[in-house]
Amino acid sequence: MFRVNDNYLKLPGSYLFSTIGKKVSAYAQANPDKKIIRLGIGDVTQPLVPAIVEAMHEAVDEMGRAETFHGYAPDQGYGFLREEIAKKDYQARGCSISADEIFVSDGAKSDCGNIQEIFSQDCRIAVCDPVYPVYVDSNAMAGRCGEYDRTRGLWSNVIYMPCTAENGFAPQLPDQRPDLIYLCVPNNPTGTALTRGQLKTWVDFANEIGAVILYDAAYEAYIADDEVPHSIFEIEGARTCAIEFRSFSKNAGFTGVRLGFTVVPKDLKSGDTAVHGLWARRHGTKFNGAPYLVQKAAMAVYSDQGRAQLKEQVAYYMNNARVIYEGLKSAGYSVYGGVNAPYIWMKTHQGMTSWEFFDWLLERANVVGTPGSGFGPSGEGYFRLTAFGTYESTVEAMERIAGI
Ligand SMILES: Cc1ncc(COP(=O)(O)O)c(C=O)c1O
Repeated sequence: MFRVNDNYLKLPGSYLFSTIGKKVSAYAQANPDKKIIRLGIGDVTQPLVPAIVEAMHEAVDEMGRAETFHGYAPDQGYGFLREEIAKKDYQARGCSISADEIFVSDGAKSDCGNIQEIFSQDCRIAVCDPVYPVYVDSNAMAGRCGEYDRTRGLWSNVIYMPCTAENGFAPQLPDQRPDLIYLCVPNNPTGTALTRGQLKTWVDFANEIGAVILYDAAYEAYIADDEVPHSIFEIEGARTCAIEFRSFSKNAGFTGVRLGFTVVPKDLKSGDTAVHGLWARRHGTKFNGAPYLVQKAAMAVYSDQGRAQLKEQVAYYMNNARVIYEGLKSAGYSVYGGVNAPYIWMKTHQGMTSWEFFDWLLERANVVGTPGSGFGPSGEGYFRLTAFGTYESTVEAMERIAGI
């Protein structure tokens, strides 16, 4: 008789966004005259820029002609795109990353979730608290997290690194020895980042204890501060201890188009075994390549015209971030993030819990955000707003909050 993977039964329900959805629709039904502003979810709202649309149209035309038709893409990605990524995202920043260390995929979420497969079952993971849930859940599904304590919201076999206002939302080196360390920089949900010096401490620690840093740089395009590296490979020593995930979702509006990539340096080894070979094996077995159309569209991200248009798009969202940051500050809130990331992390009003504040803000300002406690116990008492709305609705949301 078949049996299911019991590890799935240990997972807590993914209540966060469904609970938010239910609360918002109940409120909207009871108050049809109210205009609700949604600054909760991390999805983009601006359309694809013209350079990308044009590149995609050209690729569609190629696919419609026998001479230029493309079937299955190479599973590691087309050479033209990997060369461009290696040159412009890495070598231009002084990182020695070559095209064959880049694996193109359908997005960072899949890669962040799948990477754990190539590591031993008994590896211990360390994560920030609060955290993007994919890192923990994917390891829990694989049976690496132990038991879930529903009261405390913690797994028994996970090393948590609390990130709070007291430590500037920067994870501190853990007392215990992790094997896999997940870092998300710039961070979702806190919107904060790590400087070169802070990241160097992590790279040295990982090399010293023989751990791997799984570095999620999905929000790299939003970095404004020169002290914040755009890639972990800008740090000396990272080639022997890090894997980096990137996404085209937030820098180019590809949340619905789907494309990302993962960098696995060939120097990352366990004994004599290069991790690169294992990820290549996994990718080749379980992934059949990202679409030609999408990889061609991504080439426009690196053209002069595309770069200029995307710079404006990122600036549009970051102007929203500034509006939120300044609006909340002048309304008397403690506010964090929003400088190197499209997320603003705030302390709730007068010590309310994250969910109390959610209800209060919905009721009093008709503004929707995300309760910080949904990202982990250290998020309790905090709240996340995103800069991905329109400028007009962002300004209006801040006016309403100021007027409460
Ligand atoms: C930290 C982080 N990593 C990865 C992703 C997913 O990226 P993608 O759209 O490329 O799957 C997200 C999406 O919100 C994210 O916040």
